[in-house]
Amino acid sequence: EEADRKSTQKTSRDLLSSIPKQKAWMRSDHIYQYQNFWYGAAELQGVISMQRNFKALDTDLIVATYPKCGTTWLKALSFAIINRYHFNTATSKQHHPLLTNNPHLLLPFLDHVYSADRNPDLTCFSVNNRLLATHFPLAPLLESIKDSNCKLIYICRDPKDTFVSFWHFIAKIRTKNLENISLEEFCKQFCDGVVEYGSFWDHAVGYWKMSLQFPERVLFLKYEELKKEPNLHVIKLAEFLGYPFSAEEESGGVVEELLELCSFDHLSNLEVNKNGKLPSLEIGCNTFFRRGEVGDHVNYLTPAMIERLDKITEEKFLGYGLKL
Ligand code: A3P
Repeated sequence: EEADRKSTQKTSRDLLSSIPKQKAWMRSDHIYQYQNFWYGAAELQGVISMQRNFKALDTDLIVATYPKCGTTWLKALSFAIINRYHFNTATSKQHHPLLTNNPHLLLPFLDHVYSADRNPDLTCFSVNNRLLATHFPLAPLLESIKDSNCKLIYICRDPKDTFVSFWHFIAKIRTKNLENISLEEFCKQFCDGVVEYGSFWDHAVGYWKMSLQFPERVLFLKYEELKKEPNLHVIKLAEFLGYPFSAEEESGGVVEELLELCSFDHLSNLEVNKNGKLPSLEIGCNTFFRRGEVGDHVNYLTPAMIERLDKITEEKFLGYGLKL
């Protein structure tokens, strides 16, 4: 075991010195290109260790996202859906884990747990399924999931809003010794795909193609649609996860209650999300809640940036029939 850990460390150390790297602005001073995507040093270690050691179970449910596309929201919704029978009485509702834990603490990121440990404890709160999460693209994950029937839930978002959200996030969690990056410079990086887990477009296309080929394995959601018709999509999500709402639940307001529990206003105003910290990342939980709106990019992007981002989206997505 020790030998294997050392070998993983050595592989990533050797890799770090031999693969393309670029300056970065968030947590590590460089990002590295590995199998066509870009990762910070810790995430690179995570992806290699995950590829070597993670074998998905048939019952695993994995929330997969590009950062800033609605991960926190989707984690909360999935957790609330599959664990709702534990918290369906007035008393148990007061003890719901989402009231005292940031959603990221309830669903571990494979990226981080495998970066820290080659054999992490993936036992989750949920009894019947492990509810896991990742920002990894599909390609590096495929080997680990190909022999199982695990399900993936992906959420995509307008890249313009994703980009603006990411830029704010970086400003908040940036390690202080790193330089600040301007919106213009970051836009160039984002468009070139040279950004953590990038390219955004290739990331989405990977999961989109699998969702077309294996709709029972991948549910592809869109942030804007979830905002617009939350009931409809949460009912779909529950069905996909294998925890459909019964007719009594639907008529009894369970869907609305669950949406309210996971809503931006409710979650962002909880003490834990206002003042708590994520121990693993030393990040304030409040950094995951900013505005939670569709279209906020108009307040930040120049017409030229909007045009550039839209053009790439059209070029990269249209051929696959993916429309946002
Ligand atoms: P904004 O920066 O546009 O406000 P992620 O969870 O993938 O890191 O994405 C963060 C984005 O989702 C942020 O977008 C954040 O405000 C928004 N968000 C967080 N919780 C949400 C919720 N419960 N409902 C809707 N949006 C949410």
